[in-house]
Amino acid sequence: MNAAHTIGIIGGGQLARMMYEAAIGLDLEVRLLAEGPDVSAARVVREVTVGDFTDPAVVREFAAGCDVITFDHEHVPTGLLAGLEAAGVLVRPGPAALVHAQDKLLMRECLGDGLGLPCPRWRACRDADELRALGSELGWPVIAKASRGGYDGHGVWRLDGPADADAPFEESLSVSAGERVVIIGEEFVDFARELSVVVVRGPDGRALSYPVSETVQDGGVCVETTTPAPGLSAARQSGIRALGLRIADALGVVGLLAVELMERRDGGVVVNELAMRPHNTGHWTLDGAVTSQFENHLRAVAGLPLGATDARAPWCTMRNVLGGRSADSVGDFAHVAAADPGLRVQFYGKSLRPGRKRGHVTVYGDDCDRVRARARAAAAYLMGEDND
Ligand SMILES: Nc1ncnc2c1ncn2[C@@H]1O[C@H](COP(=O)(O)OP(=O)(O)OP(=O)(O)O)[C@@H](O)[C@H]1O
Ligand SMILES: [Mg+2]
Repeated sequence: MNAAHTIGIIGGGQLARMMYEAAIGLDLEVRLLAEGPDVSAARVVREVTVGDFTDPAVVREFAAGCDVITFDHEHVPTGLLAGLEAAGVLVRPGPAALVHAQDKLLMRECLGDGLGLPCPRWRACRDADELRALGSELGWPVIAKASRGGYDGHGVWRLDGPADADAPFEESLSVSAGERVVIIGEEFVDFARELSVVVVRGPDGRALSYPVSETVQDGGVCVETTTPAPGLSAARQSGIRALGLRIADALGVVGLLAVELMERRDGGVVVNELAMRPHNTGHWTLDGAVTSQFENHLRAVAGLPLGATDARAPWCTMRNVLGGRSADSVGDFAHVAAADPGLRVQFYGKSLRPGRKRGHVTVYGDDCDRVRARARAAAAYLMGEDND
């Protein structure tokens, strides 16, 4: 097997930081193309290039020192990556797959129209009048989305009536790094809950899925996951895992794929969107699964055998730490660790700012309610929200 040894990661956020931790154990070399010298991963990775990931010359030069290129985020322009690939650079996932995580319009066309997978009813809208027409056809509210550039709820608008239909067109320019943005109007799914399935696929087509997670979003930001999703029947669980594997295979994904889903009140699911990199809803795997999503992403990208995706315990809850009690993460950790020795905590090396993802806590064990309560208590303390 001809495995890659030097992995170039574009983007220096917490996902790259946690990939680096996995790379250390595997003896893989990591080079990082970071947005700045102080971003999360740049604070720990040894070989850092600071540069603009939208500049083809910068990315080409960075790639020259790597066996394979992968990502911490989805914002590298597709055309730039196609150019790299044409020049013989190994890009994983490749742009032909990645574009479905970058562009929600293409994703809907491919998954809904192409593969016939369940998606919300949707239509591309050229202006506010078309969006208003969609709203009166489907009924309000409707969801509008920028096809490109969104994250953490930026680029998603809930429109409660015709008067709201102008906002997406006025505000969408700011969410995409200069790429053409199409506004998609989408049926508002009155979901019972959100789910996520994370799968990993190697260059040889072998793939594995992780157990399905229940996920909670607040204001477009993931705040909590519980795995496996409580109350999900074995048949639905395996159906959703098969759906994830089918998408990875159909798109030719190499690396991690996260499929975000909405569960309707009748139990059926629709696909929300895709990510092709380690994903917030897979953070639980760092402590709660035999092989973490970060390690499996690197293994896939490097062409190494994939690791088992089984959970270590019947239940696992991950809770994000948004903002924080204080800038002293070590001191805050000391407090929660003393109260709960089984707790796992990851900090991302980020300064304190309200609402910013600064870390996460994970708890696993035999009792779902207890595991969840412990994770919530620790995260609340770390966020300064406890009532002590
Ligand atoms: N059609 C819909 N109906 C109801 N709620 C929706 C719909 N689409 C999205 N949402 C809600 O908005 C959230 C954000 O949407 P989406 O995942 O498309 O945006 P995003 O900003 O790209 O997110 P991410 O940070 O995961 O990249 C979803 O997690 C869900 O809670
Ligand atoms: Mg999302």
